[in-house]
Amino acid sequence: MRVDILTLFPEMLSGPFSSSILKRAQERGLLEINLVNIRDFSLNKHHTVDDTPYGGGAGMVMGPEPIFGAVEHVSRELGFLPMVVLMTPQGRPFTQAIAENLSREKNLIIICGHYEGIDERIRDTLVTDEISIGDYVLTGGELPAAVVVDAVARLIPGVLGEAASVEEESFTTGLLEYPHYTRPREFRGLEVPEVLLSGHHEEIRKWRRRQSLMRTIERRPELLHRAELSREDKKILTEIRDLLNGLDLS
Ligand code: ADE
Repeated sequence: MRVDILTLFPEMLSGPFSSSILKRAQERGLLEINLVNIRDFSLNKHHTVDDTPYGGGAGMVMGPEPIFGAVEHVSRELGFLPMVVLMTPQGRPFTQAIAENLSREKNLIIICGHYEGIDERIRDTLVTDEISIGDYVLTGGELPAAVVVDAVARLIPGVLGEAASVEEESFTTGLLEYPHYTRPREFRGLEVPEVLLSGHHEEIRKWRRRQSLMRTIERRPELLHRAELSREDKKILTEIRDLLNGLDLS
């Protein structure tokens, strides 16, 4: 996959892509990140990219020319116009399902917004998707773009070593993950649950499933409505409910 990220601050984005798994993915040719400086497409001699809003008001607005110029430059290079994603707090909330869909694209253009906003004509005619990474406002779209690229890139086949680790994890299964333990068996008086040391695979599987279900009820009960639950899961949930009903909380 090739991702062209249009930004006013490319230096904010070089860090997240130059270590660990995303670095290796680029070295192995599975991912190409191309940072495009929007300022390079400014049409005026001072290289400005923003202006005061028509109608007045505080703040500056990113104008259409440099962003159109940058997108057209990338699409000329590619020979076609790929999906154009705008990072904005007004976008649809980012989820694992959106990451899965984006990971099937061969190319993406991501625009990092700044200042008070961008000229609406960019949204109307260029942008195909608007994504928010949460209900809070950041200084710009660079960190959100890094979040989206990270979540998408790790779903590209071959980027993570083991395919199974993606399939089992939270939000893919619809449940939160069970707790993990490693050596030592006892740490400062804290013991690893006995069942995990038993070598009894079926018991371990059941224990983990129960832990996943309990964790999800406790922390994110709304996820259960969308999760795919087996007959066994429903039985465990009924047991947990009966257990809670039997508790004296007074
Ligand atoms: N730009 C500023 N805040 C943002 C957010 N929460 N999500 C996406 N883009 C943003």
